Amino acid sequence: AGSWALVSFMRLLWTLLTLWLLAAEDLSAHRARTRRELAPGLHERGIRDAGGSYCERNDACCAGRDDACTVPYLDTICYCDLFCNRTVSDCCPDFWEYCLGIPPPVAVHKGCDRGGQNYPTGTTYRENCNLCTCSGNGKWDCEQHACLIDGEMIDAVNRGNYGWRAANYSHFWGMTLDEGIRYRLGTIKPPPVVMHMNELWGTELQRVKISKEPKSIRSPKPLTSKET
Ligand SMILES: *[C@@H]1O[C@H](CO)[C@@H](O)[C@H](O)[C@H]1NC(C)=O
Ligand SMILES: *[C@@H]1O[C@H](CO)[C@@H](O)[C@H](O)[C@H]1NC(C)=O
Repeated sequence: AGSWALVSFMRLLWTLLTLWLLAAEDLSAHRARTRRELAPGLHERGIRDAGGSYCERNDACCAGRDDACTVPYLDTICYCDLFCNRTVSDCCPDFWEYCLGIPPPVAVHKGCDRGGQNYPTGTTYRENCNLCTCSGNGKWDCEQHACLIDGEMIDAVNRGNYGWRAANYSHFWGMTLDEGIRYRLGTIKPPPVVMHMNELWGTELQRVKISKEPKSIRSPKPLTSKET
């Protein structure tokens, strides 16, 4: 009976060991998978192509799964192995075209260049009074407002011989011409109601006029008395 108990105990131990090994293996496999598959997607709102080639430049197309098959991409890395095609989340922007020869499954947004730098879609900057936005096609899309201060106009005036010089009133820089007319210049045309007003000849107004103006100029009262 004693040996039977020992065998039974050994069997239990073996079973436990096997279970533990299986669990450990499953856990490590699971961890390796989650690190990459659950990484935040690089291309959630379309591919941000930072204006370069990645897999192509590094000639880095890898078969199967190869977690070392990476290329620097923006502030992170992207993959050029076939496994990235499963999640789409971490492939380099040129993976599909260069490695597979097919168009990418999500839209590619080309960034916009400015001052030797490439900016992602949706970036904005101000050009005097106009806002420029990086559109998805690699071009800056700028508003077309006339600006209150026009640099070219200042230069043109100062190049000519007009007897006066134009200055850059910097505190007006960045305003549109419309804003300037509305808020700054004091050149507003009065509204139609005011434009259609007639001079009043009520007694109230006459009294005001008489008291304010010298008598000799005109006042309706002496005129009527002379006529009658
Ligand atoms: C990669 O993914 C695309 C889109 O999901 C699919 O059409 C293509 O067959 C896949 N290629 C490979 C080699 O798995
Ligand atoms: C005018 O002044 C603004 C603000 O100081 C400056 O950014 C801009 O370059 C100037 N433009 C010209 C034409 O001098």
